[in-house]
Amino acid sequence: VENRHDFKVADLSLAEFGRKEITLAEHEMPGLMAIRKEYAEAQPLAGARVTGSLHMTVQTAVLIETLAALGAEVRWASCNIFSTQDHAAAAIAVGPNGTPDNPQGIPVFAWKGETLEEYWWCTEQALTWPNTPTGGPNMILDDGGDATMLVHKGVEYEKDGKVPDVETAESDEHRVVLELLTRTVAESPQKWTQVASEIRGVTEETTTGVHRLYEMQRDGTLLFPAINVNDAVTKSKFDNKYGCRHSLIDGINRATDVLIGGKTAVVFGYGDVGKGCAESLRGQGARVIVTEIDPICALQAAMDGYQVTTLDEVVDKADIFITTTGNKDIIMASDMAKMKHQAIIGNIGHFDNEIDMAGLAKIPGVVKDEVKPQVHTWKFPDGKVLIVLSEGRLLNLGNATGHPSFVMSNSFADQTLAQIELFTKPDEYPTGVYVLPKHLDEKVARLHLDALGVKLTQLRPEQAAYIGVEVDGPFKPDHYRY
Ligand code: NAI
Repeated sequence: VENRHDFKVADLSLAEFGRKEITLAEHEMPGLMAIRKEYAEAQPLAGARVTGSLHMTVQTAVLIETLAALGAEVRWASCNIFSTQDHAAAAIAVGPNGTPDNPQGIPVFAWKGETLEEYWWCTEQALTWPNTPTGGPNMILDDGGDATMLVHKGVEYEKDGKVPDVETAESDEHRVVLELLTRTVAESPQKWTQVASEIRGVTEETTTGVHRLYEMQRDGTLLFPAINVNDAVTKSKFDNKYGCRHSLIDGINRATDVLIGGKTAVVFGYGDVGKGCAESLRGQGARVIVTEIDPICALQAAMDGYQVTTLDEVVDKADIFITTTGNKDIIMASDMAKMKHQAIIGNIGHFDNEIDMAGLAKIPGVVKDEVKPQVHTWKFPDGKVLIVLSEGRLLNLGNATGHPSFVMSNSFADQTLAQIELFTKPDEYPTGVYVLPKHLDEKVARLHLDALGVKLTQLRPEQAAYIGVEVDGPFKPDHYRY
């Protein structure tokens, strides 16, 4: 294939290390490996050009190579400036049969510690396909919706050929996006319109990206069909919960190595991520306090044995503060001003607007210092120091390596099946947002049972008839909540 060698990663010499970890991960990702085997002959993604925007980790490398094994061509960027594992990116660029001197892998544009300009340049590279009819992908695999957003904003601005003035930008990141689109509209006035015309669909990984998709559907601006992978049961009830149960404390430990036992920790939000985070901190012996706005989740947290209260009540007493809401403005600068000396503040939600970093930087006399990459102290004029992880970006990927392989095998098996659905059955998915059909959700779970030694009970026909399901499932109605 032409143009297989365009990529940008930190250091190709890390490829061998990356390949070793990918090999170990493959064993821990039985869902993805089973799908590779099942579809090896059929090649359902032959002809697919998949642009991926998702944390470039070892687990994602196994996903990328699964898509390729099913026939897809792939271009990749990370969906966060801090989340790339450079050895995984190098191994993808080099490929299983290449060497650092002769890379033969997949175009990947990702390194740990990108600037915002670099981040959006990488996203643009992943969406730009040399020597293809539209110059773009025909499928997107997104996490948080940045790639999907760039295409949609591009199309919107190309309609009247005008991008809003950068002076109107609401944030640094918004300014970078406006600058990028100002350039593409000048260079190639129909670039994104052409790209969008050929896209068969997007499969979206996370809660925050799914919110964006439903918003576009509601506003009538969604340009192509989407599968909400997040709300597959085998995704959000596993990755968001058990994944964060593992990777939250991994991030805190690697960043600070502070003893969590005995400390008071506040978890903001008791959704799927919050539930996993609260459990992981409690597992280390912390006293966990939860904040919620939703009475149902608040009641759940109370029944699970957590104190549920407001930030104001505990801001000056707690040691660790973790935001998990997917909402904005959860911890403001005025809150941080009231916190204890050496309180630890981190976010595990998708975007960096849960913690008011801009407001913190504006406190008169406050001084930021780097302890090590992604760990900063902020010293207040009175001498108090706060520890902020990953500059307010998701700390499990910034300070650690994200979720472990086994749980990501579920999420990424969902992703792969969703890609196959949208790519091979365009007639069944007119523009709109869908969830994965339940039989596929159950299939993904099934693919992970053997590895854990699970023996499933087989439903007998008369039992199946009695509860009104088929012997081989689906076993639950769509409204069942698990
Ligand atoms: P969710 O919707 O299940 O949970 C969020 C909870 O926060 C809800 O219960 C909501 O009521 C609550 N909330 C909203 N505003 C609040 C406020 N002002 N104060 C207190 N609570 C508030 O969403 P989920 O699946 O738990 O995801 C949360 C975020 O984490 C999203 O941004 C998602 O994209 C991200 N995510 C991150 C992962 C990671 O590895 N870092 C993995 C999976 C999801």
